[in-house]
Amino acid sequence: MIVTIKELHQHVGQTVTLQGWLYNRRDSGKIAFLVLRDGTGLCQCVVTKSPQTEGFFDQARRLGQETSLRVTGAVRVDQRQAGGHELDVQALEVVGESTDYPITPKAHGIDFLMKNRHLHFRSRRQWAILRIRHTLVDEIRGYFNRNGYTLIDTPIFAPAAGEGAQTLFEVDYFGEPVYLAQTGQLYVESACMSLGKVYCFGPTFRAEKSKTRRHLTEFWMVEPEIAYADLDAVVDMAEDFVHSIVRRVLGDHREDLELLGRDLAGLESIDKPFERLTYSQAADLLRSDRAKALLESDLAEKSARITELKKELQQKEAEAQASGVKQWKKDKLAAEIMAGREELDDLETEVKNIPHHLELAAGFEWGKDLGGSDETIISRLHQQPTFVTHYPAAVKAFYMKRNAQDRRLVNNFDLLAPQGYGEIIGGSQREDLLDDLLERIDAQGLDRKDYEWYLDLRRYGTVPHGGFGLGVERTLAWLCGLKHIRETIPFPRMMGKFYP
Ligand code: 4AD
Ligand code: MG
Repeated sequence: MIVTIKELHQHVGQTVTLQGWLYNRRDSGKIAFLVLRDGTGLCQCVVTKSPQTEGFFDQARRLGQETSLRVTGAVRVDQRQAGGHELDVQALEVVGESTDYPITPKAHGIDFLMKNRHLHFRSRRQWAILRIRHTLVDEIRGYFNRNGYTLIDTPIFAPAAGEGAQTLFEVDYFGEPVYLAQTGQLYVESACMSLGKVYCFGPTFRAEKSKTRRHLTEFWMVEPEIAYADLDAVVDMAEDFVHSIVRRVLGDHREDLELLGRDLAGLESIDKPFERLTYSQAADLLRSDRAKALLESDLAEKSARITELKKELQQKEAEAQASGVKQWKKDKLAAEIMAGREELDDLETEVKNIPHHLELAAGFEWGKDLGGSDETIISRLHQQPTFVTHYPAAVKAFYMKRNAQDRRLVNNFDLLAPQGYGEIIGGSQREDLLDDLLERIDAQGLDRKDYEWYLDLRRYGTVPHGGFGLGVERTLAWLCGLKHIRETIPFPRMMGKFYP
């Protein structure tokens, strides 16, 4: 009977067949230990030299990493093993050979791994991340389904900018220029006037010329849009939505998060209400002593860690070069040295940037948009996710609703994830008045002609409405505690990177 590793607990004492790939192998002359993976887990398969295994024992000892295999044997409980079971192998069939698999248990640099991304996600960390991504997407859809939203699929070929004109990817559409969608928002705005509560969920594109740990050129965004909603209603919904995502991921993925080294307490403490600040309060916070103290203590801590790490690396390098070191020990040291150098690189970059970030924060002028380092500071000074509302209109998109009390501002918000992760949501109430919207379109140098259809929504039964966009990859990086966004999507697209 063919079963999966996850189902083994139902088959203790029985003879079953597993189908998978060789994850790891070692042998002691008389016994070969084959660790098989099948997408549901890992299982150690034990081949003992005996008349029964004579036909394949030697073959089993020579199998290359990632050989695909069918293995038949008796299931035994063994709590010491990953997954809690072992298979006593009675038969073994090689389905596809694999020699010199490029990603070995030794250490590899991140560039090499990303070039081999099609193989890279056969590793455990990557399964964990991809599985959590699956649950995140499922919870996003589940939340909207449970709460009466209708899914609207919006086009990817867009006739005009939906966000800033600087980040458009142009495509030749039978001789005419069109753009890859930066957002589905304008379309869900029209759909909410038909169905009340709607959302779109798909890939979006930004020609971001920024090589940062937060930027992709292709990313997935979910965008709910609600008719008869003001800013407060949208913020409340975003809070409930993100809270439910955190609960679900914690509930379903404790083990995966632990494997990723995520500090669970940080996620467990997420609770409603989230923090709420206005942009002006955020600006004051950036200029405050608290922000200064945070960065100064960072600088001291990181500099100390650099000194310590350099010492550790020297020791390890000396140890690796000493004579008589066993190969496994050399490999282990090489992996640690590689990881140490990556950490050192990151730390040195951070330490170099801190004085600049200090300067930016201390000299933050009202009217500027918050930069990445500003968001990091604000989100690190709060335990809960933090809403920042009411930004200056001049730095925000044309469709945001002017604030009635202070015309310099718009009724918008960003949600900053805690622990320095920064913006995961951008949203707003939308400008529902035709004249105000025309003024914003002109002010931003956009062409009214491109937005005629969108302006109709303000001509025929306009209502207060609003919504937001949550970026799947940034949210996943936060949930998983990843430093960089590149591992959050199966095949990342970044400036200068589009292979494989
Ligand atoms: O703040 P943004 O640009 O908002 C919009 O696109 C609105 N039209 C959404 C709406 O109101 N319906 O993007 C929303 C979110 C960001 O908070 C971030 O999570 C993600 O999309 N995002 C990116 N993620 C990865 N790489 C990029 N280059 C991203 N740009 C935005
Ligand atoms: Mg934004």
